Amino acid sequence: MHFESRRRVRAGEDIIELTIGEPDIPTPSHLLDVANASMRSGRTRYAGGKGEPILLQAVADKYSARTGRKISPDQVLAFPGTQAALTITMLSLVEAGDGVLVPDPYYATYEGVVQAAGAEFIPIPMSPDNGFHLTAEQLEAAVTPNCKVLLLNSPHNPTGAVLTPEEVAAIGDICEKHDLWIVSDEVYEPLIYKGNFASPFDIEKYSKRTIAMASISKSHAAPGFRSGWAVGPKWAMDEIQHVSEAILFGGQPFIADMTAHALSHPDGTSDEMADNYSNRIALLMDAFHGSDLVPLEPCAGMFMLVDVSATGLSGAEFAMSLLDSGVSVMPGSSFGNECAKFIRISLTVDKDQLTIAAQRIIAFANSI
Ligand SMILES: Cc1ncc(COP(=O)(O)O)c(C=O)c1O
Repeated sequence: MHFESRRRVRAGEDIIELTIGEPDIPTPSHLLDVANASMRSGRTRYAGGKGEPILLQAVADKYSARTGRKISPDQVLAFPGTQAALTITMLSLVEAGDGVLVPDPYYATYEGVVQAAGAEFIPIPMSPDNGFHLTAEQLEAAVTPNCKVLLLNSPHNPTGAVLTPEEVAAIGDICEKHDLWIVSDEVYEPLIYKGNFASPFDIEKYSKRTIAMASISKSHAAPGFRSGWAVGPKWAMDEIQHVSEAILFGGQPFIADMTAHALSHPDGTSDEMADNYSNRIALLMDAFHGSDLVPLEPCAGMFMLVDVSATGLSGAEFAMSLLDSGVSVMPGSSFGNECAKFIRISLTVDKDQLTIAAQRIIAFANSI
């Protein structure tokens, strides 16, 4: 959908693009200045295998403050984004014959992450009835003897669900019972509108089986810098380092300097984006009110799911035909089986554009 929409825009069609999660504000200029000055000062040589010490320390400080425990830089690895952290961690934890549990709906790359490691992808069906929150019962029912990892994502893409501390603890208990690793994708941590962030890494007894990861892509409007990290038990991170070095052989010191600066100098960028996204959520909730389209109000992130089943079309059919009405969105089926009746709308255009997009979407739905 995204590439088809890009192709048509290039050909001159008037399409409002609401497909991928690209922040619509620029990367803060003070971060560009740090990267530029660092590059010019000669920070263009090979980086350390774990990452540059300045970045490992900044990440350790972030997680020490968050968890209330002393997190050591030895527990951190730098990666070019959450995506690389996910894949390299998965390659390190599992192999052919192992199972990886993934709550469905899930972020579109997760299937590839698991399959790249040769492991079995085991979806856990979640339900819109509780806002797509993974329950301990759903998790327990899905565990098979070969399962080694739960791939958890809260705040969640595409649903915008934020797990509560109680839900995280109940999920952690099941992972303890079945001796599962928890790979925790926390890239949307700073973009929460309702509820509070909770992570298994923040609870000491589950932290021994949790590897948490995130990046500056969403938090600092800097996806093109490809800069993220993972944090977990030291012995596991030492093992993952071997796989990481085999693939990456380090990162870019000037980007490490910029990322360390971003983490240690909060500048309000994520608050500005969170404000924008939550205003746009309110706009869409109002726009769809009284129509056949049923939005699922997200509690976090930069997307909204909308149930289009009353039109008689699947999410994929709806999204494909909607292109002709000048809006591109993702079909829910890009994110697993459980949200096939939804479309996913990205919140990354301004209010004026979003208002026009909502009018076009509703007019298209009414025309069916
Ligand atoms: C849930 C989730 N995980 C990971 C990523 C990739 O993030 P990064 O740019 O840090 O690799 C995304 C990007 O949209 C995402 O939504």
